Amino acid sequence: MSDTTLSPLDEAGVATAVDEALAAIANAGSLAELKEVRLAHAADASPLAGANRQIKNLEPSQKAQAGKRVGQARGRVNKAIAERESTLQAEAAERMLIEETVDVTVKPNRFPAGARHPIGLLMDDIADFFSSMGWQIAEGPEIEHEWYNFDALNFGPDHPARQMQDTFFVDAPGSHLVMRTHTSPVQARTLLNQAPPVYVACPGKVFRSDQLDATHAPVFHQVEGLAVDKGLTMAHLKGTLDHFAKWMFGEEAHTRLRPSYFPFTEPSAELDLWFPAKKGGAGWIEWGGCGMVHPNVLRACGIDPEVYTGFAFGMGIERGVMLRHDIDDMRDMVEGDQRFTAQFGPTSHGRGV
Ligand code: DAH
Repeated sequence: MSDTTLSPLDEAGVATAVDEALAAIANAGSLAELKEVRLAHAADASPLAGANRQIKNLEPSQKAQAGKRVGQARGRVNKAIAERESTLQAEAAERMLIEETVDVTVKPNRFPAGARHPIGLLMDDIADFFSSMGWQIAEGPEIEHEWYNFDALNFGPDHPARQMQDTFFVDAPGSHLVMRTHTSPVQARTLLNQAPPVYVACPGKVFRSDQLDATHAPVFHQVEGLAVDKGLTMAHLKGTLDHFAKWMFGEEAHTRLRPSYFPFTEPSAELDLWFPAKKGGAGWIEWGGCGMVHPNVLRACGIDPEVYTGFAFGMGIERGVMLRHDIDDMRDMVEGDQRFTAQFGPTSHGRGV
């Protein structure tokens, strides 16, 4: 396809070039293919363009006829290209309409709304409950000094709770830092910061070196209550606990105390809950610990136990969630399965009372 192959005087050659071009144009199945055809049959390197360039070299007598022949030939080819192009463009547009059809009736695949974890929800609700009685809400650090976690709470130096098998020690020898094993250190923190009367509740995370199973987790949650004022007695403790139990578990719920021992309370008691919705019929369930604040704890915090008395209690939040929602296995609460949390709704859950 060089300039020399097709002469503008070669009538049959020009006709053949036109026929070849028209056949190629008709065969072009896409705009990309048509572009190739244009390069081969109509652009500068095509035989017809070559023939056209040679016209100026012809004898003047030959120029007019050759010019007309080649001009008409190129005109036919260009027209065919233009027509094929608009056909192919229309086809492409139509195909795009079909291929990219948007079905506006399709159900949108929305990102599912998350849900807050029932433990966080219940801790917030418990905080609201105590606030509504005029109590303050306190939080302490999760990495706690041994002094707050044990010493200030009247744990002796050899108390078994201080052993490695129960307590996570923070690995900095001599730092005396532990992952708090209960929320009770907030008692000492509060009493050192604030003169009585003190009424404070502390929901929070606690840590113990337990294996995860259906009823234990190495990280769990408690709520601590502490009241220190003039003239507080165990009756105030019992009334507070009953009120709390009813709010959590319904009007029939109440509590009973069984003698027990905690270093930081005297007397101390196990706290049982009368749980109306217990499986197999209403009955008693262990709920936590409580007692009258030990005079040594008050003294460690600079409070005169002859003037002030106090009561304290602590219970697990997981237990509360499991009882309220009839959950059997603690592991459901730590696995982070969205199908679990979604059941409790993105905002809040039903109230007991
Ligand atoms: N801190 C105790 C525990 O984790 C629970 C407890 C018992 C808290 C008696 C108290 C209390 O405030 O008075 O087992």
